[in-house]
Amino acid sequence: MRLKKTINKIDIIDFKDTKKLEVFLNKIDVTFSKNKIITNSPWKFSHLEHFHFLQCENANNIDGVMVYSKHDWNYHLNFLYVLPQKRSLGIGKIFMNNFLSLKGKNCFTIHVDKTLDKTIRFYNKYFGFEVESESDNYKELKQFKNKCLNYNPNTYSSRILMYRINNNVK
Ligand SMILES: CC(C)(COP(=O)(O)OP(=O)(O)OC[C@H]1O[C@@H](n2cnc3c(N)ncnc32)[C@H](O)[C@@H]1OP(=O)(O)O)[C@@H](O)C(=O)NCCC(=O)NCCS
Repeated sequence: MRLKKTINKIDIIDFKDTKKLEVFLNKIDVTFSKNKIITNSPWKFSHLEHFHFLQCENANNIDGVMVYSKHDWNYHLNFLYVLPQKRSLGIGKIFMNNFLSLKGKNCFTIHVDKTLDKTIRFYNKYFGFEVESESDNYKELKQFKNKCLNYNPNTYSSRILMYRINNNVK
């Protein structure tokens, strides 16, 4: 019997040697041009303990990355990006399942650009994320929103907050 090749391995990004990461960042498309620069967000947070940086590597190249951070009440997805030519192969879903398997916090949150309809659908259709609205009664979600607004008053000028309650906290 032929053994299935192990692909789509998720590892921690090595910030001691960023060559592969920089090659990957060069290939990021213009919509995410700010994130191409290693001194910008989210890479500039690599020294912070509550930030986690993961990569999906195949044939010695990074095909996708995911960055998330741990907060008082929630895990927040800071960045998820799969190279355009590597999309629709299941890499995004592997990252998301990895993210959603985290335990210990009550909620998962994501900021998504309002114009990214396909991405919003991806989070809603496959992972049950809802778009946060005024009628939601989670005080902790409002607190998280306020924390983000304190950090950057423009957080929600072009983005929406999506969230999913964690049914698997423990
Ligand atoms: C969203 C994203 C991470 C999904 O990764 P992926 O590896 O293509 O996802 P999967 O292969 O696991 O799932 C594919 C599904 O995602 C959907 N999808 C969402 N956005 C997509 C995009 N920009 N391009 C292609 N497919 C996309 C596909 O329609 C597909 O759905 P289908 O199976 O019903 O056809 C990826 O498309 C991406 O990096 N997009 C640009 C960056 C982005 O929007 N990041 C999120 C910022 S909050």
